[in-house]
Parts: sequence; structure tokens; C-alpha cells
Amino acid sequence: MAEIRRVDRLSSPERDDLTALLVACVAEGASLGFLAPLSREDAETWWREFPRAGVALLVAESDDRIVGTAQLHDAESANGAHRGEVAKLLVHPAFRRQGIARALMTRLEAEAREAGKTLLTLDTREGDPSNALYQSLGYEQGGRIPGWARDADGTFSATIFWYKPLG
Ligand SMILES: CC(C)(COP(=O)(O)OP(=O)(O)OC[C@H]1O[C@@H](n2cnc3c(N)ncnc32)[C@H](O)[C@@H]1OP(=O)(O)O)[C@@H](O)C(=O)NCCC(=O)NCCS
Repeated sequence: MAEIRRVDRLSSPERDDLTALLVACVAEGASLGFLAPLSREDAETWWREFPRAGVALLVAESDDRIVGTAQLHDAESANGAHRGEVAKLLVHPAFRRQGIARALMTRLEAEAREAGKTLLTLDTREGDPSNALYQSLGYEQGGRIPGWARDADGTFSATIFWYKPLG
């Protein structure tokens, strides 16, 4: 089973692992805000922004390699300090269906509670397996927006918004 930990500083090998993870997930069609093909250079540049203030970065490690990650973003508005947004939850295609995303989300929720958050939100592409994951973790569907994201092939996808009050 992968070990989940929070990262407050990224070493060069850790950034390399995260870069490879992001490139692999975008290449297999994941909707993560990027358009395929995502180059290694662009992915590495993106990871150089992390960790940063207002973002808790979690990683899942197996045999000293990062195989999954997730982020908890603080809301930017003053009246949203109780809210957190789940972002960039990804597990390497070779490590799927082993409970790694579930473990990352369990830890992320614990981090959110510790930070005083009482509400988590996220959105994910309609039809993706991630919807089943969030539902299984007790998230409620808040709504659907058609035409939210453009895929690499030029088609548009709807996004589903999910939320979970933290008891
Ligand atoms: C979504 C994703 C993070 C799931 O990672 P994972 O480690 O394979 O998920 P887990 O093994 O923890 O699965 C937990 C539960 O989620 C659901 N689930 C996960 N993948 C699923 C799939 N392909 N089909 C159906 N249900 C799935 C199941 O309920 C599963 O429980 P079970 O295995 O006991 O049936 C992974 O597929 C991924 O990285 N996808 C690409 C990136 C992405 O879309 N991220 C979400 C952005 S919001």
C-alpha cells in the first residue's frame, strides 16, 4: 500500500516523479486543465509553482516513487475561509484500483478538518471514473455545467460539481 504524506518542499527527484505522473495522466486523456499532449518541460514548469501558500500538497509513495497526488486549495475570498477545494487528484495509470485515491482523499479531508475547513468542493468531467470515487466518499452532487472544458480533440465536456460538508 502506498504511503501518504504532505510535502512542504519538493526535491528534484520528487518533482521529476510528479512531472512524469502528470504527463502520463494527461496523455491517457484525464481532464486536469491541460490539453494533450503535455510536454515534460511544460509539466515540470507547472510543478515548479508548488508547494505554494494556500495549497496543501499530498503525495502517495510506493517504493520511494511518487505514484499519486492531490491538492487542497484554500478559497481566496475572506468569507470562504471555511471552504477548501480539492484539485489535481491523480494516480499513475499503473497503480490504479489499489485504493490510492481513496487514501489520498481520506488524508486530504483530515488535513482540511485540521485547518478548520467545514466544506469541501470540487468539479470533475462528466462520465469520468472520478465521479464514482467522489460519490463513494460521500460527496453530494451540486450541479452540472455543460460545455465546461474543451478536450484535445475539440469536443466540449460537461463538468459535475461535488461538495461534502465535513462533520
Ligand atoms: C480517478 C482516479 C484518481 C482514481 O484513482 P484510484 O487510485 O484508481 O482510485 P481508488 O483505487 O482509490 O478507487 C476508490 C473507488 O473509486 C471508484 N473508482 C475508481 N476508479 C474507478 C473506475 N475506473 N471505474 C469505476 N469506479 C472507480 C470505486 O468506487 C473505487 O472503489 P473500489 O475499487 O473498491 O470499487 C484515477 O483514475 C485517476 O488518476 N484518473 C485520472 C485523473 C483524474 O481524472 N482525476 C480526477 C480529477 S478531479
